[in-house]
Amino acid sequence: MKEQKKWWKEAVAYQIYPRSFKDSNGDGIGDLRGILEKLDYLSYLGIDVIWMSPIFQSPNHDNGYDISDYQGIMDEFGTMEDFELLLKESHKRGIKMILDLVVNHTSDEHPWFIKSREAQENPYWGYYIWKPARDGKEPNNWGAWFGGSAWEYDENREKYYFHQFSLHQPDLNWQNPKVREEIFAMMKWWLDKGIDGFRMDVINMISKTEDYSDGEQKGMYGDLSPYCMNGPKVHEYLREMNEKVLCRYDVMTIGEAMEASPAEAKKYAGADRKELNMVFQLEHLDMGKGKYGKWNDKPVNLQELKGIFNKWQEELNGVGWNSLCWSNHDQPRAVSRFGNDGAYWAVSAKMLATCLHMMRGTPFIYQGEEIGMTNAGFQKLEDYRDVESIQAYHELVKQSGVSHEAMMEYLKLKSRDNARTPMQWSEEGQAGFTEGSPWISVNGNYPEINVEKQQGEETSILNYYRRLIALRHDHPVIVYGDFCMLLEESDTVFAYKRILDPVKLTVVCNFTSQEVACSLLSEAAPVLISNYRDRISGILRPYEAVVYEETSI
Ligand code: GLC
Ligand code: CA
Repeated sequence: MKEQKKWWKEAVAYQIYPRSFKDSNGDGIGDLRGILEKLDYLSYLGIDVIWMSPIFQSPNHDNGYDISDYQGIMDEFGTMEDFELLLKESHKRGIKMILDLVVNHTSDEHPWFIKSREAQENPYWGYYIWKPARDGKEPNNWGAWFGGSAWEYDENREKYYFHQFSLHQPDLNWQNPKVREEIFAMMKWWLDKGIDGFRMDVINMISKTEDYSDGEQKGMYGDLSPYCMNGPKVHEYLREMNEKVLCRYDVMTIGEAMEASPAEAKKYAGADRKELNMVFQLEHLDMGKGKYGKWNDKPVNLQELKGIFNKWQEELNGVGWNSLCWSNHDQPRAVSRFGNDGAYWAVSAKMLATCLHMMRGTPFIYQGEEIGMTNAGFQKLEDYRDVESIQAYHELVKQSGVSHEAMMEYLKLKSRDNARTPMQWSEEGQAGFTEGSPWISVNGNYPEINVEKQQGEETSILNYYRRLIALRHDHPVIVYGDFCMLLEESDTVFAYKRILDPVKLTVVCNFTSQEVACSLLSEAAPVLISNYRDRISGILRPYEAVVYEETSI
């Protein structure tokens, strides 16, 4: 089937985590004026779309993913005028902007919730999910994603409210048509301001089953996923959102869909479904869960990784559209997790980029990935800021018997703060991020890893990303070509073909620090891009990546 052409399929997106991108006024917190200062950098990189993590009013229990006013800018980030200027200046440079839509829950300081918890009945009572106690305790055994029970007792209403994340993030009641109307009106308001779409936070969790019975016991709490993910009415709600809001604009919509299968993704983002353009499939980032969920030190299994990508590439072919990412603000740094942040740092970062950007789908670069930023390497619990990391530490070390040493190791590998240290702009103090003292420590390797340095080096990771982005813009096969996995059995090489007749690309990536033999390398074919200057016949050097064009037979 011929793929329908769309701007958001041809785009490369870049995620900004505003708090850690660039501070313009020395208070240690990144802000909108800081982003404005760096727009020329983003044009130089060549990206087409910015996805901004939340910039709205928030008490910041979860860095803006707990919103207290959807139509106001967070004081620390600036003003609405700053936002309007940023949007205008982005558009001037041909860069579109999508915002984070966090509507599974609000902050507990949102006026709707403040009204909802009043003792006196009012229209906001039905905006959230309230349940009576069961035998004087929580309504059921469900555990929240950030630890503890998913229920919090409120003395005014003498009931429990439901929160899938922290207790400062009560879940909205999407069954209430008034709630949906409020959200749709807010979305229109932003779209009329000229934004180019939304990344929708945990959007597959907005519909809960009617059945609030106990979940399967996992550790101290019951698992709420089967009751809250891909729930019975989620598609009805998204279709309503599409019909009432989205279909009136030419926008990019991408839904975060944790634990969704390709079959589910087809429902969210099937070309004929009138819901979303695409979902963030995070299956490869969720790999390796164990007894304590993501908190372990299991190495990445390449076979499994390849299997996951292959499945998503194949199953969405012709019926939906993939998103592609190695990381985001909830994940460790890509090069530390999937590559090698020691001896093969630069070459492995380029290999990962090649492997991802040559696949079919819209690539998302997470800020700093384009210079190969690495995990934070924090030594002390006090260095961490993330609500999930801190709660997990307390739960696992204080209650589940995991040792302090083991947990500190897991945090070093998996904490969300690994991706949240300030962007490394230069070798100046605090990596050129702030003139003050940053809200979270900068990574100590900024004198070696920073934008300024890599701008001056022809073979830097940064310049490699610029070339990859430019290639996608120049070669329709990278956007629209069919995907075909090669060497499926190999546990060292990730290889595939892209085909858009008569053009064929072969992508070959060594995921190890060893030399490996590889029969796929064609000496005669012209190389489109590679992270080594030359080639050795039949051999891939550590983390070598080669993309070459095959001439048709
Ligand atoms: C999403 C966000 C994450 C946030 C959570 C709750 O997973 O990406 O950062 O903590 O939703 O909003
Ligand atoms: Ca600031």
